Amino acid sequence: MHDFLSLADLEREAIIELLDLADELKRKQHRREVYRPLEGKTLAMIFEKPSLRTRVTFEIGIFQLGGHGLFYQTQLGERESVPDIARNLERWVDGIVARTYSHEVLLDLAKFASVPVINALSDREHPCQILADAQALREHKGFFDGLKIAFVGDGNNVFASWAHFAARIPIHLTLVCPEGYEPDSEILAFAQREAKGSVVVTHDVASGVANADAVYTDVWASMGQEDETEARAKIFAPYQVNAACMAYAKPDALFMHCLPAHRGSEVTDDVIDSKQSIVFDEAENRLHAQKAIMLALMK
Ligand code: CP
Ligand code: NVA
Repeated sequence: MHDFLSLADLEREAIIELLDLADELKRKQHRREVYRPLEGKTLAMIFEKPSLRTRVTFEIGIFQLGGHGLFYQTQLGERESVPDIARNLERWVDGIVARTYSHEVLLDLAKFASVPVINALSDREHPCQILADAQALREHKGFFDGLKIAFVGDGNNVFASWAHFAARIPIHLTLVCPEGYEPDSEILAFAQREAKGSVVVTHDVASGVANADAVYTDVWASMGQEDETEARAKIFAPYQVNAACMAYAKPDALFMHCLPAHRGSEVTDDVIDSKQSIVFDEAENRLHAQKAIMLALMK
C-alpha cells in the first residue's frame, strides 16, 4: 500500500489488518503507553475545507507516534499547480494528508508525490471515516459478517466509502435516499459487482431500515453544497433519522453518524443522544484508525 486514497484499493485482508492494528493502537493509547515508531517523521496536512475531527486526530496521531504534523489551509492549484505542490512537499515531508473538493486533485497529488498521500475526505470518498466507523461497529457487535447497515440520507462521499467497504467485507448495505440522491453510478456498480454481502438502494424508509443492525446518517448538504441547504432540507425531510425511523430497525440497532451532526435535520436529539448512539466512539476511533494508516504507510 503506497497511498490511502480509497477503500476500493484495499483487499479484505488489508482492511482487517488495519482494523486490528487500530485496535492495538487504541489499547496502547488507553494505557498511555509511549509508542513512537514514527520519531522524526513529518506529515503535511492540507485542508481545502473546514474540519474538527480529521484535523485534530491526524495532528494528535502523528504527535503520539513520535512525528510532527504541519497544518496548511489552502485551495490547491490556485497559487501553483498541484504537481508542483507535490514535487515541493515530497522534498520535505514523509507523508501528505489532504482534504480536497475534487477527488481528481487528490489523485494528482498522489501521482506526483513520491511520499504517501492519505485521503482526508474528497467530494467522492471518505475512507478514513469508514475505517474508524468499522472499528466502532466491530467493537459493539463483535463481528461484521451478515450485519445490515442502513445508510439513510445522501448517497455521497461517506456512503461511497461504505459501498467500497461492502465490496470487501460481507455486510448488507442499504442506502435509503430520496430520488435523485443515489450514489455515483460507477461506485454503485463496482460495489454491487464486488459485494460480499449485498448493496441495495431504495427510496422507502420502512423496508430499507427494516431489521438493520445499524442505522447511519450524514448531513443532507455536504461541504461545498451550502447553497442547496434549503432545497435539500425539504427533499430529505422524510428521511430524518428519528424515533419512528429507528423503530423499523432491530431493537438493539446502533445509531451511527460521521459528524458534524445537524441536530433536528438529519437526526433528532433523542436518537443521537440515545444509548444506541455510538457517534463519539466513531469520533474517538478516527485517532486510532488514522494512526494505523500512518504506521502502515510511513514506518
Ligand atoms: N467526520 C469528519 O470528517 O469530521 P470533520 O469534518 O470535522 O473532520
Ligand atoms: N458528507 C459530509 C461529510 C463530513 C464529514 C461532507 O462532505 O461535508
